[in-house]
Amino acid sequence: MSTEKRVAVITGSYKGLGFEIAKKLANFDNIQVIITGRDTAKGLEAREKLAQQGQEVDYIPLDVTDNQSVEEFVVALRKQYGRADILVNNAGVNPGREPEESSLLTAKLDTVLSTFHVNTLGPLRVSQALIPLMKEHNYGRIVNVSTEMASLNFISDDFYPLAPSYRLSKIALNGLAALLAKELKGTNILVNSYSPGWMKTDIGGEHAPLTAEEGAETAVYLATLPDGGSQGGFFAEIRKFGGPFPLPW
Ligand SMILES: NC(=O)c1ccc[n+]([C@@H]2O[C@H](COP(=O)([O-])OP(=O)(O)OC[C@H]3O[C@@H](n4cnc5c(N)ncnc54)[C@H](OP(=O)(O)O)[C@@H]3O)[C@@H](O)[C@H]2O)c1
Repeated sequence: MSTEKRVAVITGSYKGLGFEIAKKLANFDNIQVIITGRDTAKGLEAREKLAQQGQEVDYIPLDVTDNQSVEEFVVALRKQYGRADILVNNAGVNPGREPEESSLLTAKLDTVLSTFHVNTLGPLRVSQALIPLMKEHNYGRIVNVSTEMASLNFISDDFYPLAPSYRLSKIALNGLAALLAKELKGTNILVNSYSPGWMKTDIGGEHAPLTAEEGAETAVYLATLPDGGSQGGFFAEIRKFGGPFPLPW
């Protein structure tokens, strides 16, 4: 089967920011949203929740750390839709609240590694799997969900927790966006990173000033960039600056 609509894949999207991005993209008539995640019951529940609001999205299982899961996802996507146009690399973990994460001297290397597996290698794995499909239709928009905490320019003076595993993994995620953008320069596949701001989600906690719905705005902007739009940029959340605002890497 194939579809004329643009197919948008959002990783880790049955809750939190990913769910809000899915919800916003589902408002576009020409976009078919695919919710993904590693818990099928939660995925189907999220799909049902949107169906009750009149939004027809699909759910396909996807664990970004698992080669087999990604391979099966691509097979299912090809069979059901025959294309992939938008990828939002949203799935993430933040072990920053662990006491040993307050210092690089105590951070556990196993934790650094497991965080990289989800936050950095996951986006690389899924990008490698979906970019060939994007090339088939000469269209792609890849959005990496990063954080201001990964801006090397700000690190020496910022007030955020040290959180070494999280920060290092997101610095590398930004590097992935920059390198992919370099490799894809001149094509119609645009790759950008953004910081959604501090949001009330399982990762952000209840004291965060923003909602996930607010944090989703910039993802939608980057996922629907016109041809010739930003390639290899790093953006702050639109709400903070009243419009697209580039951050220094
Ligand atoms: N909240 C903030 O203040 C904030 C600020 C800056 C950036 N971010 C970024 O925003 C993104 C979304 O986080 P959130 O705040 O919405 O937190 P969240 O509600 O905890 O969402 C994280 C999502 O990632 C999924 N996930 C984790 N490991 C996965 C894997 N191996 N495969 C597929 N999905 C996986 C989780 O699914 P499970 O339930 O199955 O684990 C969950 O759906 C993350 O990349 C985070 O770093 C958040």
